[in-house]
Amino acid sequence: MNSAPAGPVEPARTRRVVLGVGAGIAAYKACEVLRGLTEAGHEVRVVPTEAALRFVGAATFEALSGQPVHTGVFSDVPEVPHVRLGQEADLVLVVPATADLLAKAAHGTADDLLTSTLLTARCPVLMFPAMHTEMWEHPATQANVALLRQRGTVVTEPDSGRLTGADSGKGRLADPAEIVDLARLLLARPDALPWDMTGMRVVVSAGGTREPIDPVRWLGNRSSGKQGYALARVAAQRGADVTLVAAHTAPLPRPAGVRVEHVGTAEQLRDAIHLAAVDADVVVMAAAVADFRPTRLAGHKIKKTDLEPEPIALARNPDVLAELVSARKSGQTLVGFAAETGDSGADVLEHARAKLKRKGCDLLVVNAVGEGKAFEVEDNDGWLLSADGVETQIPFGAKSQLAVAVWDAVMSLRRR
Ligand code: CTP
Repeated sequence: MNSAPAGPVEPARTRRVVLGVGAGIAAYKACEVLRGLTEAGHEVRVVPTEAALRFVGAATFEALSGQPVHTGVFSDVPEVPHVRLGQEADLVLVVPATADLLAKAAHGTADDLLTSTLLTARCPVLMFPAMHTEMWEHPATQANVALLRQRGTVVTEPDSGRLTGADSGKGRLADPAEIVDLARLLLARPDALPWDMTGMRVVVSAGGTREPIDPVRWLGNRSSGKQGYALARVAAQRGADVTLVAAHTAPLPRPAGVRVEHVGTAEQLRDAIHLAAVDADVVVMAAAVADFRPTRLAGHKIKKTDLEPEPIALARNPDVLAELVSARKSGQTLVGFAAETGDSGADVLEHARAKLKRKGCDLLVVNAVGEGKAFEVEDNDGWLLSADGVETQIPFGAKSQLAVAVWDAVMSLRRR
C-alpha cells in the first residue's frame, strides 16, 4: 500500500498581490475583493486603468490597501513600477476584466501600468470578466479569451443575472467572495489550476438532504455544502463543464461558470444526479444524503398533545452512489465521501477502507468528524483512498485545497 503526502500547506508569509481594476461598473466590487485580501494579511497593490478611476476614486483604493495608486508608467519612475510590480507579484487579479482589457492582454499591448504589469508577471494571472452579454459573446472577445487561456491565464466564465441596468444575461462579475477564495487557493498552491479538465463533464453533489416530517419540520444533517461547492468551483476553473446538484447548504455564492440545480430530498437529489450523470466523465458525491426518510408526510403541523408522541416510522432511501456504481458508464470515474468517526470496533481509516470496498467507487475522500472538524468550517483535512490501494494524506487547509487534491487524484486515475 502506498502512502504519500499531498501538496504543500498554505504558507504563512505575506504574499504580494496586484489587483488590476478595469473600467466597468463592477469596479466597485473590486473594493470588496481588496478588503478580503488585506484582511487575510496579504499586501495588495491596486492598479486601475485611468478610466476605472471614473468609477471608484484612487483615495478609496489607497485607503483600503494602504498603498499608493498609480495608473501610468511615469509615476515613481526610479522604482520602475511597470516592470517591478509584475515581477515581484505572487498573484495578479483583474477585477473586473472588461472586453477592452481582455483584448489588450491577449495582444500584448502595454500602454499603461496595468497592461505593462500583465506582460511582466510570471506568477498566476486571473481575469474575472464583467461586461454586457453581447460584448462577452462577440467572436472577438471569445477569441481573446481562448488565446489567453491557451497561454495559461485563468479567465473565469462570468455569472448570469442582472447586469448594469434593468437587463440581465451572462456577463456579471463573479461573486467577490468567490474571487477571494480562488485567490487564496492560488496563493497557497500556485500550481493548482492547470487548464487540464477542458472538455470534461463533471457532476458534483453538495449539501445535506432534508426529509420532511410535516410542513415545518424535517430530518436533516449538518452539511454546509462548502466542500462540494469548492470541488465544483475548482473543476470549473480547471476548464470542466460542471453541474452542481445542491441540496440544502449554508448561504453560498454560486461558483463562477457552474450550472447549479437545487434539490431538497434524497429522492430529488437521486433523480437530478442520474439525469446529469448520463454523459458525465466524473461524478463526485460530496452530499450528505439522508439514509432514511419518514414513511409518512403529515399534511399539517404535528401538534403536541398530553399523550406519548407517536414514533416516526422511517423508510430506507436509495443509495445514490451504489446505484451509480452498478449503472456505471464506460470510462466514468466515481468518487464518494465519507465523514467518519472512530469507535471501539475500528478507527476512522479502517471504517473508510471497508466503506470503499462496500461502495465500489474509484476514490473515497475521508474526513474525520469531531469537534470543529469537517462540518460548517472553512478548512478541512483527510485521506484519499483509491480502489487500487493508494492512500494519500491531505494536510489541513482550505476546502479548495482539498478540492485540488481530489481533482489531481481523479486526473491521475484517469490517466492510468
Ligand atoms: N450516499 C449516497 N446515498 C445515500 C447515502 C450516501 O449516495 N443514501 C453517498 C454519499 O454522498 C457519500 C457516500 O455515499 O459519497 C458515503 O456516505 P455515508 O453516509 O458516509 O455512507 P453510508 O453508506 O450511509 O454509510 P454509514 O452511514 O453507515 O457510515
